[in-house]
Amino acid sequence: MTKIIKIDPANIDMELLSQAADVIKHGGLVAFPTETVYGLGADTFNSDAVANIFRAKGRPMDNPLISHISDIADLEMFAREIPPSAIKLAEEFWGGPLTLILKKKAGIPDCVTAGLDTVAVRLPSHSIANVLIKLSGTPIAAPSANLSGSPSPTTATHCIQDLDGRVDMIIDGGSSMIGIESTVIDLSTEVPVILRPGMISPEDMRSVIGEVVYAGEVEGAPKCPGMKYTHYSPNASVIVIEDVSDYKKHTRSGETVCVIAKNASDAGIAADIVYDAGNSDAEYAARLFYLLRKADEDGADVVFAQLPETSGIGIALRNRLFKSAGGRVIMK
Ligand code: TXA
Ligand code: MG
Repeated sequence: MTKIIKIDPANIDMELLSQAADVIKHGGLVAFPTETVYGLGADTFNSDAVANIFRAKGRPMDNPLISHISDIADLEMFAREIPPSAIKLAEEFWGGPLTLILKKKAGIPDCVTAGLDTVAVRLPSHSIANVLIKLSGTPIAAPSANLSGSPSPTTATHCIQDLDGRVDMIIDGGSSMIGIESTVIDLSTEVPVILRPGMISPEDMRSVIGEVVYAGEVEGAPKCPGMKYTHYSPNASVIVIEDVSDYKKHTRSGETVCVIAKNASDAGIAADIVYDAGNSDAEYAARLFYLLRKADEDGADVVFAQLPETSGIGIALRNRLFKSAGGRVIMK
């Protein structure tokens, strides 16, 4: 049985949230909101609990997890070396959507790091996530709270769709504001490398620590272990398209066609289903996973999603869209 509790992030019911912390303390699994996407959490230092995360999600064991902390000082628990770049980035962007990869300290369970010599740590900005970590008295290991392969959840309803009956508790704390997962940057190498783009862009980090490598959309580029798996896939097939007004040329008769485009309401698109992705790539990011799931609910066979810009959060959006489309991209 999965218990679902509703908490207002602006006015946290501490008694209710303590129930979630008790679940974590006793080795259970709790889905909770963060500013990026919902996470599925367990006590980082309880190997059995962490193993259950993999089971609940159907996640391959070679894909390591991010540990979530509520105080920068807790970095000490994880890293045997904390380079100055880590402190600078943490001071600038924590709490927030940035995950640091550092050389791991002994004592971090192998299942958290998938046996790697490095560890991923993030301090989120979401009030419920922060208070939950504090009340639990331990860092919380958490991947996104979806079944492996499906789009990351940005609402409690998505978590319920994927994980009801598979986890102990789901906290409904409203929608995740950013909508795509944190930027992952590897600081264990001489030059920092972005393994997964996110809202904190390469330019943002360069302004704080200087040289940062982002190999970008190049095939064979360095990636998070997790990025090799199928990702963000609704049942409908996704096609990324640069010139969205051209989508009709690529449809087949009998298909239920969905189009996701910025300012779609003004663009006069006559597809079966049209979703407006907002005015900016930030709004597009906030809605993308929600809309991919909605496309399935609304019966779409194919989803044409407009290609975003190549700067700022657009870089991360492109990354998620390309993964979700499995390489089906139509350029002008
Ligand atoms: O925004 C987020 O990051 C969300 C929220 C819940 O915090 N979490 C999230 O977790 O997206 P997950 O597990 O879905 O993605 C974590 C990514 C995976 O691609 C994983 O391979 C990578 O981080 N990762 C974790 N530890 C790593 C390590 N030691 N070295 C390289 N990549 C690592
Ligand atoms: Mg994930």
